[in-house]
Amino acid sequence: MTQLMQSFLLLLLLLPSFIHFSSSVEAFHDVTAFGAKSDGRTDSTKAFISAWTAACRSPNPATIHVPRGSFLIGPVTFHGPCRSSRITIQIDGTLVAPSKFANLRKLGQWMLFDHVNGVSVYGGTVDGHGSSLWACKVAGRNCPAGATSLAFRNSKNILITGLTSINSELYHIVIDSCQAVTVKGVRITAPGDSPNTDGIHVQSSTDVTITGTGIKTGDDCISIGPGTMNLWIEKVTCGPGHGISIGSLGKGYDEKGVENVTVKTAAFTGTENGLRIKTWGRPSEGFVKGVVFEHATMQNVRNPIIIDQNYCPDEKRCPGQNSGVKISEVKYMDVQGSSASQVAINFDCSASNPCSGIGLQDVKLTYGNKPARSSCQHVHGTASGSVVPSCF
Ligand SMILES: *[C@@H]1O[C@H](CO)[C@@H](O)[C@H](O)[C@H]1NC(C)=O
Repeated sequence: MTQLMQSFLLLLLLLPSFIHFSSSVEAFHDVTAFGAKSDGRTDSTKAFISAWTAACRSPNPATIHVPRGSFLIGPVTFHGPCRSSRITIQIDGTLVAPSKFANLRKLGQWMLFDHVNGVSVYGGTVDGHGSSLWACKVAGRNCPAGATSLAFRNSKNILITGLTSINSELYHIVIDSCQAVTVKGVRITAPGDSPNTDGIHVQSSTDVTITGTGIKTGDDCISIGPGTMNLWIEKVTCGPGHGISIGSLGKGYDEKGVENVTVKTAAFTGTENGLRIKTWGRPSEGFVKGVVFEHATMQNVRNPIIIDQNYCPDEKRCPGQNSGVKISEVKYMDVQGSSASQVAINFDCSASNPCSGIGLQDVKLTYGNKPARSSCQHVHGTASGSVVPSCF
């Protein structure tokens, strides 16, 4: 055979696999190919939307790549539903929010994913540039509420991993009305005195898992709103911050409950609260049922274990009322460490709906060289193992 014939035959052999290959290969979209600029100053929102639209329309799995450098984007909504059921967003650089907070006020979110399925976010840093809004709030001026940095809404099969979120205006990450969401190996950082910068807020969602995540912020490290079911939190560090909080619940009458929450291996350092359940002192059909707090360490935490059912800021809209939220089957197992106030366990339950099925097992909380105390109102439960201080 001549060399030409050989090459020709080889080509014939390879051709079908090439055709096959090109029809199933992952579509790859680099945001810079759509005009995004890595200078941190040029508004790249349009380029990101174009990359998203291309990935979303792809019949195959698609990857959006954000290279190193700093990209100014948003506010932006990435809409679904998409034709592609697997979209990977690989971020090697930093996404920065416009620094004028007035720009973000209308949307309530800086970056929102809505009605998406099968989206994974890998790596990257998102910088919410919240400091000017915090300064406004701290000064008590008339300021906008601000924007959540990253929100997923009405979505399912979501993975957020390796992401760093810094200096959000409002919440860092919100999971709202979603199903099957994993947040893994995420780092969240904002100053301890930055107002309303909750780390991760989950509500109206089922099967959410948060693992291996470190949160330093100015409000709740993780807050859990109405309608949350099957939430798993494991290996989380918190501090500074206000702890892990179920609530506030029961602000409205017609409210969904919170069911089946596990918080396992959590470390709190210098936080306002450790493990908290908080409800408004108002009539409500809400409930909290089936919570396990297991292996928690407290270091200088003001309220290590707290159920507060008389939340009524400024004594407005609820004076003299009891919370309708029914709290039952809440277990605290292996909670150890130091309290920064003498009352290390505070169960302030509703007079009309006492807490029931509360379990304390192997709890040891100290308060300097004085004994830590417990405060126990309208609460029924049991203690097992060594429990100091205790209510039962
Ligand atoms: C509770 O939630 C976990 C996930 O966090 C899940 O594995 C488990 O099956 C759920 N239990 C029930 C009774 O639904």
